[in-house]
Amino acid sequence: MSKDRLIIFDTTLRDGEQSPGASMTADEKVRIAKALEKMRVDVIEAGFPIASNGDFEAVKAVASVVKDSTICGLARAKKIDIDRAGEAIKPANSGRIHTFIATSPIHMEQKLRLTPDEVVEQAIAAVRMARQYTDNVEFSPEDAGRSEPDFLCRIIEAVIKEGANTINIPDTVGYNIPHQFGNLINDLIERIPNSDQAIFSVHCHNDLGLAVANSLAAVRNGARQVECTINGLGERAGNASLEEIVMAVRTRQDVFECDTQLDTTQIMNCSRLVSGITGFAVQPNKAIVGANAFAHESGIHQDGVLKSRETYEIMRAQDVGLSANKIVLGKHSGRNAFKTRMAELDIEFGSEEELNEVFANFKTLADKKHEIFDEDLQALVTETSTEQMNESLKLVSLSVCSETGETPNASITLNVEGEEKRAAATGSGPVDASFKAIEKITDADVELQLYSVNSITSGTDSQGEVTVRLQQNGSIFNGHGADTDIVIASAKAYVNALNKLMANDKRTHPQLGDV
Ligand code: KIV
Ligand code: ZN
Repeated sequence: MSKDRLIIFDTTLRDGEQSPGASMTADEKVRIAKALEKMRVDVIEAGFPIASNGDFEAVKAVASVVKDSTICGLARAKKIDIDRAGEAIKPANSGRIHTFIATSPIHMEQKLRLTPDEVVEQAIAAVRMARQYTDNVEFSPEDAGRSEPDFLCRIIEAVIKEGANTINIPDTVGYNIPHQFGNLINDLIERIPNSDQAIFSVHCHNDLGLAVANSLAAVRNGARQVECTINGLGERAGNASLEEIVMAVRTRQDVFECDTQLDTTQIMNCSRLVSGITGFAVQPNKAIVGANAFAHESGIHQDGVLKSRETYEIMRAQDVGLSANKIVLGKHSGRNAFKTRMAELDIEFGSEEELNEVFANFKTLADKKHEIFDEDLQALVTETSTEQMNESLKLVSLSVCSETGETPNASITLNVEGEEKRAAATGSGPVDASFKAIEKITDADVELQLYSVNSITSGTDSQGEVTVRLQQNGSIFNGHGADTDIVIASAKAYVNALNKLMANDKRTHPQLGDV
């Protein structure tokens, strides 16, 4: 018997981007979208076009380049949102509008200040408007996990009648427990008379750490689309992690009546790309994509794995795209080898100049670090595209002095809108001194909320990848930088966060405010 298709709807570029500080440029979204397309993700939610001009342009850019995945734009149940989303997805080969309105008593009363009848009317009108742009319309009753099942049945039946063909059930606040959420999906499908005219989907948040478990319980109960993100990125504690859902369904085909069409060997590539671009590092013990996910530390386990892999491994590392031989290039590698490996990683260059610039940075890195891994190449592309951006601040040079018994000091030169400025400062360590010197030049009134260093690969010659999170007036900006010298990587990350703060494109949050 052939199995049903489980549709994978990736919302890294929309809900993932709602993680504080994870906002992405249009170019970055395009890079991630192409990697998702290569992985054969069915639907890519590329953004919330009404949120800002930048997000509108980003969704449009993704819709113009991605050919094989459906491109979706999010819209509140409002004409202005739906028109903007309809416009943004126009270039897509296959486009979808995803419209939503809250249905839980607390959201309807406190947030929307609408009666249930008004909410139903608005939902019907939204689906009708969206159908004027595309026949692929998804409807979500926001906070369905805390909504009354009778009301959900009523509104869902009405929007299906109006032409919504995907019904997404969000556990917006991550409140549900697997057996309960599974039963909800089962009941909705059974009770709604026209449920056979739509695909039922789920969208689970991870506040109680149950997003993946809830999604899988829903799949066992008839959901045939799962909304998820790479590395589980997303609002607050994140969304259900794509890699965990896909590998659970693939590995446990004995318990699932469906499978995805994903090429799972692309998982690691997507995971590294998203963590590199957003600066959200993956914890080492994260399932599927963590650095330790396939590492066998204890002697007993190693012995077992050597005798027979299946003793302790339920998946093969190569099935998620981890290659055994990870050293790819070195200082003697030529332009052709470099270009070929980049193409294998699905990294394309817009122009010869861009290729030359990344290749020059590769040569500089290979002089410092003899073995260049895939992770280094991906970080190089992220770094080079950051350098190419029209940023107000650029790091020109940095010199630090750190000696036992002495106060560390740093002297830094920044290019500030075309003019070179220099400052020196002391600090409790070389990073602190460098940040203080940057603050002297920029006069930035910011609060440093997070500073973290991760090594991109193993070994002391590895590049350090630094994430810096700044806060100003309640807005959060993440910056990242990579270098074999972690003080330089730190300064790059700080400058990157300041650039984002200066270019702040004010966004509307989809789930706040009125409808
Ligand atoms: O969590 C949520 O409810 C959402 C909706 C917009 C689907 O992200
Ligand atoms: Zn969400």
